[in-house]
Order: sequence, then structure tokens, then C-alpha cells
Amino acid sequence: MKMEINPLLMSLMCMSICVSLVSSVRFDELFQPSWASDHVVFEGEVLKLKLDSYSGSGFESKSKYLFGRTTVQIKLVQGDSAGTVTAFYMSSDGPKHHEFDFEFLGNTTGEPYSVQTNVYVNGVGNREERLSLWFDPSQDFHAYSILWNQHQVVFMVDQTPIRVFSNKEHKGVAYPKDQPMGVYSSIWNADDWATQGGRVKTNWAHAPFVASYKGFEIDGCDCPVTTTAVENAVKCSSTGERKYWWDEPMMSELSLHQSHQLMWVRANHMIYDYCTDVSRFPVFPVECDHRR
Ligand SMILES: *[C@@H]1O[C@H](CO)[C@@H](O)[C@H](O)[C@H]1NC(C)=O
Repeated sequence: MKMEINPLLMSLMCMSICVSLVSSVRFDELFQPSWASDHVVFEGEVLKLKLDSYSGSGFESKSKYLFGRTTVQIKLVQGDSAGTVTAFYMSSDGPKHHEFDFEFLGNTTGEPYSVQTNVYVNGVGNREERLSLWFDPSQDFHAYSILWNQHQVVFMVDQTPIRVFSNKEHKGVAYPKDQPMGVYSSIWNADDWATQGGRVKTNWAHAPFVASYKGFEIDGCDCPVTTTAVENAVKCSSTGERKYWWDEPMMSELSLHQSHQLMWVRANHMIYDYCTDVSRFPVFPVECDHRR
């Protein structure tokens, strides 16, 4: 007797296998330690970055990417994290580099973390925003993502957008779209500025400070170091038959639901917005048109 295989069952099996393959991508397929590899340790499926009085630590993607989305799940330093900064970011190389930053600023036990985001274009940053979160990020893993396409850079926390840097080239604002970027994370001592404006220092008696990671994902257009800028630009643009999902029309701006989420975050969790800092920017930054 011939065995009949139900095609629906086949596709269901494939779906579950394919999905689990994607979500279980191992750290070392995408990333490698970049700094103090003895402070970068695996415990089961969880990667830990440690900071003590000798050193901080960090990891970086093996490749660089032009557009796409990266997500990691992070559980931040528990208890006393004052003076520490844990960063998750994308960056290109060189003096005119682009950079998209999440910086988690620690605090004394029981006091809330803040999340600072920043965007550098052609080497120029000074676009800090600071938020509180609607949960304690040291209690559990939460997903932090950066989506980047021709139209926008979106910072997301558990899929809720907390910041959008839109392409405003039509208003003369430079937009990052020409340099492949790597994905990075690190933990270091920043007690000169991080916690309560630098007033609270790192208490080394509480070291090591440990940030935990899992769920590493990068879904982007891979740009190996051996390819030229022109080749990358061609390879990573959606033309003709080839369409990257992040170039679909619906990815060029937030959905209505997402814009409501963003409005809620800004109304309830904003601590600092460079766009409204008149003493620092007497001349209104052009990209801030809607916020003063
Ligand atoms: C730390 O806690 C204080 C007091 O609740 C708060 O004002 C501050 O924004 C928190 N975050 C940082 C990074 O200092």
C-alpha cells in the first residue's frame, strides 16, 4: 500500500519547522563578541554581557546590512544598575557614519530605568529623546527592534513604536540610506552622566552587572565586506521581480494603530525630547516641524 501524504499536513509541518528554524537562530550565526570576550558568556540559551570594575563587554553582527529589521530580547541589569548603560544599536563605519541607538540608563534599586534613543546621520547626532517604560525592563525579557527602510527608521519596544525618524529629504534633512550598518550591543560604565544626571555613581560592590539576551534576529539585506557600495545599493533595492518586505507600501509609514500607540507613548512616557529643548536648540531643528 502506498502512503498518502496530505499536502495540507505537509505544509503545516513545513510551517512549524521553518518558523522554529527562524526563531532559534543561534547567536554565533549572526554575532560575535566584540569587546572583552571573557565577559561575554553563555548560560544555556541566554547570552550574558557583564560589566565589572575591570571591563564592560559587547557583541557585534558578523555582517553589515542595508535596510531591514533587527530584534533582540533583553533583560536588563537587575537591582542596583546605577551608572551603567546597556546599548543596542546599529552603526556604519567612518567619520560620516550613521547610527540608531537604544541606550538603557540604569538606576538605583527600585528606581526606574530610562531609555534614550538617538539618531546620527553623516556623523551628526544630538537628537536625544528619553522615555520611561511601561514595565520594569529588568524583570523579564522584552523585544527591542529597529526597522529601517528608505522611508523611516522605527524604534520599537515589544512591537510598540516609541520613535520614528522619517525621511525628510524633501525638506533638506539628510536621511541614512547609503551606508550598510552593523548591529551592536554593549554594557559599560557611564556614571559621569547616565544616572540622575551623573549624581549617582556606579557601586562596584554590586558588580558584576549583567544584561541578558536571547531571541537574536536580523532580517535585512546582507552586505558582505567584499561587495562595493554600488553593488550593495543595487542588491538592496527593490526593483522588478525582487521586492523586500520592508519596501512594501505599508512599511513606508506607521499604521493607524501604530501611530496611536506612538502618541500614547509620547503622551505618557516622554521624559526629554531634543525637539522641544529651546535652550539647547534656539534654532528649531528642521526635522522637528510638528513638535513645537
Ligand atoms: C532614576 O530615578 C529617578 C528618580 O525616580 C528619576 O528621576 C530618573 O529619571 C531615573 N533615571 C535615570 C536614568 O536617572
